[in-house]
Order: sequence, then structure tokens, then C-alpha cells
Amino acid sequence: MKPLLIQGGYIIDPSQGLDETLDLLITEGKISWLGKREITSSKPDCDVLNACGLIVCPGLIDLHCHLRQPGFEEKETIATGSQAAAQGGFTTICCMPNTNPPLDSQATIHYVKSIAAKEGVVHVLPIGCVSKGRNGEELAEMDELASAGVIGYSDDGNPVFSSRLMRQALDYSRISGLPIIDHCEDTTLAEGGLMNEGVTSTKLGLPGIPAAAEEIMVARDLALAQLTGGRLHIAHVSTKGSVDLIRQAKEKGIQVTAEVTPHHLTLTEERVIGYNTNAKVNPPLRTEQDIQALTWGLKEGVIDIIATDHAPHTEADKLGEFALAPFGISGLETALGSLMSLVHSGELPLTTLIAKLTHEPAKIISDKYGRLGTLNIGTPADVTIFHPDKEWVVDINIFASKGKNTPLNGSRLKGKVMATISQGKLVYKDVSIRLEEKAPLRG
Ligand code: NCD
Repeated sequence: MKPLLIQGGYIIDPSQGLDETLDLLITEGKISWLGKREITSSKPDCDVLNACGLIVCPGLIDLHCHLRQPGFEEKETIATGSQAAAQGGFTTICCMPNTNPPLDSQATIHYVKSIAAKEGVVHVLPIGCVSKGRNGEELAEMDELASAGVIGYSDDGNPVFSSRLMRQALDYSRISGLPIIDHCEDTTLAEGGLMNEGVTSTKLGLPGIPAAAEEIMVARDLALAQLTGGRLHIAHVSTKGSVDLIRQAKEKGIQVTAEVTPHHLTLTEERVIGYNTNAKVNPPLRTEQDIQALTWGLKEGVIDIIATDHAPHTEADKLGEFALAPFGISGLETALGSLMSLVHSGELPLTTLIAKLTHEPAKIISDKYGRLGTLNIGTPADVTIFHPDKEWVVDINIFASKGKNTPLNGSRLKGKVMATISQGKLVYKDVSIRLEEKAPLRG
């Protein structure tokens, strides 16, 4: 592979506190040099990517996505999901185990890893189940899953309903050092609900899912994290009440991390008006007040990271009546563009946004993968290059994902991924990006 020089870009790497215009050289798949432009002129034969006016940052990491393989390949595959990731600027994605069969055994984890190695264009790191079959009755073989290489455990899509089982899982997380990624939902309270419970659900005549359905489980699991000292990671936080609970827990020193999705940060329940099934997601889109609390929580460090919860479904799945359509939004390809709205409105500093998508998720993933989320010299070259101000219109027809289920189709976003480099390989580039060859200088 010819060395690649990324020239004139504005580098933001929160892992090293870098925030300046620098050139970056990639050699044999690794970051080999970072420096000022003058020195660059003596660099050897390489391809050059002109990044003037662009932001260059560590490859984005998504701790929570659904790749559907094995079992639901009509919705997504590891190949298409990883291409969608590349198109969205993600170089590492962690896939949830609600497949068929679920990822609750070494064999299924090996299967995902082998397909990912053959067909994936970015790193794909599997998450194993908490319980066998994801049915919440008996713990999965957590040790075996750890040796097969999972980066955490989750029954996502389902909560771990039994407090006793959750306690055991958190005990195990202390031994393995891997987080329990918690889908917080009291299903007895949420059952039958189709959207956020409130004025809009009443007006639409749709059964609601109250904020309390999430908060009850958040409170329970924070108590269990305190009891066990286990590693708890709260998935897709969607309510102000959850932010308050996590803030209090962190103040008490409880070991907990949390994530929020781009859609919960930027879209309200009003998107459901018109019975738009592409806005039907779990947890549901909430209110402006929740968005404000989530944004505040993210900025203040109560919420550690942003994760997409990319949940692709077929058009046929989403075409049905509102009550029957499955929950989920296809999110990998719109994540950065929609999140940049928080930067443009002045609500979130750009460096904080990048940290929440790179260095912070890298910290949650086990030390074994400690080389992710950084542009440190010697680390695998996972790099994302984006234009902070370029406007574009979301068009599901050019999605790499099979999941076209987004309420953002046709929306104009400001901030566009221009190139994605995974382990030194250019896995996505915008049509406007051209590589130029640089001949060796002075022999
Ligand atoms: C997820 C899916 O489709 O797998 N859907 C979603 O709306 N987030 C599962 C889930 O968490 O319900």
C-alpha cells in the first residue's frame, strides 16, 4: 500500500489534546507522522489527499448498532452495515446480539468475526448476550463469550427483567472487566406503547410509553451497580429523568457510563405526527425538554458517548400500520450530519462532539482495543475526514445500508463526511475528493 499524506487538514484529536492544522502521513496502515506543512515537502513518494478546510479526526466509533446477521439479512448484513458505517465516518462499530440465533455462544461470535474479517470494511466488534437466548432467564456463558472476543454484554431490544439476573451479570462484569450494556425498559409499563406518552400521543390516539418506563430500570440498575461494583453502561438514554439519575449516581461514585443517540438529541416526538413509522423507535423520541437535558448531560459529562443504535428494517416492515411496524431508525449515515446541528447552534463544542464519538467510546471498549479512537503515531490508521459546513440532502437511495428507515429522508444537513480511512485503507470518499500522486523528491 502506497503511503497516504493527508495535507492541510484541521486535526482534532481529543485523546492527545490536538487542535491545530497539521499534515498526517499513513504508512503501511499505521499513523506514521504528524507535523507541520513545511516539513512535509521532504516526505517521500505518496498519494496526497488535500484536506484544506476539512476536519481530520480519529475514526468514529459506534458502540451500539444492529447488523442483523445472522438471521435477518433482508434488513442488513455485516457487509452492508459496515459500508454504511464507512459512509457515515465510522471505522469501528459494535454490533448488538439480537440476531437469529442470538450472539450467546462462542460459535455465533466466531461466525460474526469471520464474516466481518471477510466482508466488513471497518472493524466490527460483537457484543454478546447477557442471557441465553436473550430471554432473561439464565446467564449466557459470559467467560466463553469474553474469550471469543466480545466487547460487552447486552440483551438489547429486551431489558434484563430479573433484578437477580442483572445482579449476577454485574458481578461477572467485575471479573471480565467488560460492561453490561443496559436496555432500560420496564416492559410491564411500556407494553403496548407506540410512542412517547404525552400530549402528542393523546392527540394522535396512540398508546404511550411513559418516561418512567425507562427511569424505573435506570434507577434499579444504578442501585445494582452500587451493590455489585460492576460495570454498567446505560444504552440510549432518552429522558431528562434518566439524566438526573445518572448525574446523581456519578456524584455518589457509582461506576456507570451512558450513551445517547443522535435521534434522541435532535428529534422530538412531533416527528411521529402523520403516523410516520420511520420515526417509531425504542426508546421513543421524546420532548424538547428531554433534548435540552440530554444535550446538557452530554456537554457536562453525565452522558459519556454518542452511539447510533442504527436499527435497519425493510421498507415492507415499515410500510405496515403504525402499531405493527417494528421500532428502529437507520442511523449510521446521518449521524454526523445531524449531530453537527448541535455544533452549529452553539450548544456543543466541536471538540466535545468528536471526543464523544472517538476517545470516550474507546475508553468504554476493553483495553485490548486501547489503540482505537486516537491518531497517536504507531496506531492503526483509522481516520475520519469531514467538512463541517458542507450542506447535503439526505437521500435514502444512496444509503449503503439496506435500512432506508429514517425520518430524515429529504432533510438538509450541514456537515458531511468526505473520507473514511480504516487501517490505512480509504473505505469511503465523497465524489469531490481526489487523490493526487506526489513524486519522490530529490531521489
Ligand atoms: C432495536 C432493533 O430494531 O433491533 N430497535 C430500536 O428501536 N432501537 C431494538 C430495540 O432496542 O428495541
